[in-house]
Amino acid sequence: MELAMVRDSIVPLTQLDPVYLDRGTFFGDGVYEVVRSYRGRLFALTEHLERFERSQREIALRLTDTAELRRRIERAFAEAGLPEAAVYFHLTRGSAKREHTWPEGLEPSFFLTVTALPDTAGIKEKGVAVATHPDWRWKRCDIKSLNLLPNILAKQAANARGCFEALLVDEQGRITEGASSAVLAVVGDALVTRPLGPEILPSITRHFVLRLAERAGLTVVEKPFTPAEAVAADELLLAVTTKDVVPVVSVDGRPIADGRPGPRTRRLAAEFAELAGA
Ligand code: PDD
Repeated sequence: MELAMVRDSIVPLTQLDPVYLDRGTFFGDGVYEVVRSYRGRLFALTEHLERFERSQREIALRLTDTAELRRRIERAFAEAGLPEAAVYFHLTRGSAKREHTWPEGLEPSFFLTVTALPDTAGIKEKGVAVATHPDWRWKRCDIKSLNLLPNILAKQAANARGCFEALLVDEQGRITEGASSAVLAVVGDALVTRPLGPEILPSITRHFVLRLAERAGLTVVEKPFTPAEAVAADELLLAVTTKDVVPVVSVDGRPIADGRPGPRTRRLAAEFAELAGA
């Protein structure tokens, strides 16, 4: 008899809840998104759904109708009644006996949570420390896939060093992005960030921050930079959906400028808050 063991219970395979055979669990075979709300309104849902559709295509997942996904997300968000919420959702390729190749006609499996977002006023006010870590990820980081082992190991290591985020560093010694955020630097009147490509996620927060640069008196320069250049920058910041603009005040224990959030970052955060209706 084919069987599974769930904790200490033996279950015939034919009676097993298919959730245990989810390819997301076996292989990280799926894609996800995180969207947030400000004051009861979801921000940039269209952009997140567009990126989600692209992620599905890039891993040859059977496409789930975007209008249907939007309905599910809006329904769950309304039901939760949380004004400042994170909506996490993923699609895996579905459930099947563990085999690397997937069978034809598998039904993708959708999962979503709505959770309350913690207040970020403190980290925005004080800024955060970050630590560098080698970028151990694969060569398609532009896909928002469920494979996050290198990201979580890097962030855990940074946390163990008292840091909020890990800055991932590629084999050429240049920062790719944060373990779960985009990274930008202010150098003079330039807002510098790595150009989009397979090494980084096309961050939606980064996209909006770049659009707001002009309002903060900054010109966008898309080029990679090293940790040493990050430390020498006038200001450093992270961009991520759940916290939008977060000032960075030190890298590996070395302070950026006077070790306090700078004026350009504050301005970008204020502009972003206005745009998002925070
Ligand atoms: N992470 N880069 C990586 C590797 C990320 O995981 C994220 C977001 C970002 C920022 O992207 P955006 O601005 O679109 O949120 C950049 C999400 C929030 C997460 O994994 O929880």
